[in-house]
Amino acid sequence: MSEDEIEAHVIAEARDDIVPEFDGEFPVVITGLRNTFGEQVVHDNLDLKVRRGEILGVVGGSGTGKSVLMRSIIGLQIPDEGDIEVFGIEITHGDPDEAVGVRNRWGVLFQGGALFSTLTVGENVEVPLKQFYPELDPELMHEIARYKVVLSGLPEDATAKFPSELSGGMKKRAGLARALALDPELLFLDEPTAGLDPIGAARFDELTRELADTLGLTVFLITHDLDTLYAICDRVAVLADHKVIAVGTIPELLESDHPWIQEYFNGPRGRAAQESGERARSMDKQDNTGD
Ligand SMILES: Nc1ncnc2c1ncn2[C@@H]1O[C@H](COP(=O)(O)OP(=O)(O)OP(=O)(O)O)[C@@H](O)[C@H]1O
Ligand SMILES: [Mg+2]
Repeated sequence: MSEDEIEAHVIAEARDDIVPEFDGEFPVVITGLRNTFGEQVVHDNLDLKVRRGEILGVVGGSGTGKSVLMRSIIGLQIPDEGDIEVFGIEITHGDPDEAVGVRNRWGVLFQGGALFSTLTVGENVEVPLKQFYPELDPELMHEIARYKVVLSGLPEDATAKFPSELSGGMKKRAGLARALALDPELLFLDEPTAGLDPIGAARFDELTRELADTLGLTVFLITHDLDTLYAICDRVAVLADHKVIAVGTIPELLESDHPWIQEYFNGPRGRAAQESGERARSMDKQDNTGD
């Protein structure tokens, strides 16, 4: 194992002393969730289970409550009703001390990135490290931050840059580096490819898939990007009518006759994404067989 790899796992090992890695089938289980803002009902009786090791795409029209759902899972939005278990621990009305114990096992890339503009990329990555492991040697913290920056596909010298000095795509990667700071088992990405050009978006997708496979992550991926769904998601959950109306592989969803699902996957953009996905797969096949 290289020195970098050893450093990369310092956090995971420190944590393993306290909390064993989750080995159940569903790291996230949501039952009967209800969220309202005043008169507005966002979620009502919403159920969802996220399977360990999958990339779950979460789709739905703008304002259907995808971000609110994510915020509920990570404890930033207290629901009116319902239960949310993460790694088998009740987040919403369980023991607060226990809930703190799971908070360092997920990483979050918020919609829009939300980097601290007065901190460098490296310092941004160190924020969660300082929060959860303040006793960690500062030099080791810098090393871990540099490693996560490179792992996220940025050049090492981006560590010392401020967010204002980065392109949109680089900011997303910096946000990803911060989300990976604590060696998470569960990664939340809220529209990670929004605003990226198609090539940048495809590269970000590939990176997500690669990280999920190599680090064994479970990924909750909110997206509007049909190409992302076809390219890297194992299953897709669809939000409409205040709940998750369907969850499954894309072929499974195509069998649904719900109008939003039909419109989304079988509308012109849906068909184009489907065809481009098929083209990419057939080219892969040709590459692999050397034809
Ligand atoms: N803190 C809040 N206070 C009041 N209303 C809110 C709050 N957060 C979200 N909402 C409302 O809840 C609804 C769902 O918001 P949410 O951000 O989850 O949508 P979304 O599905 O993520 O949409 P988009 O695809 O545009 O990101 C919206 O109508 C929004 O205005
Ligand atoms: Mg949103």
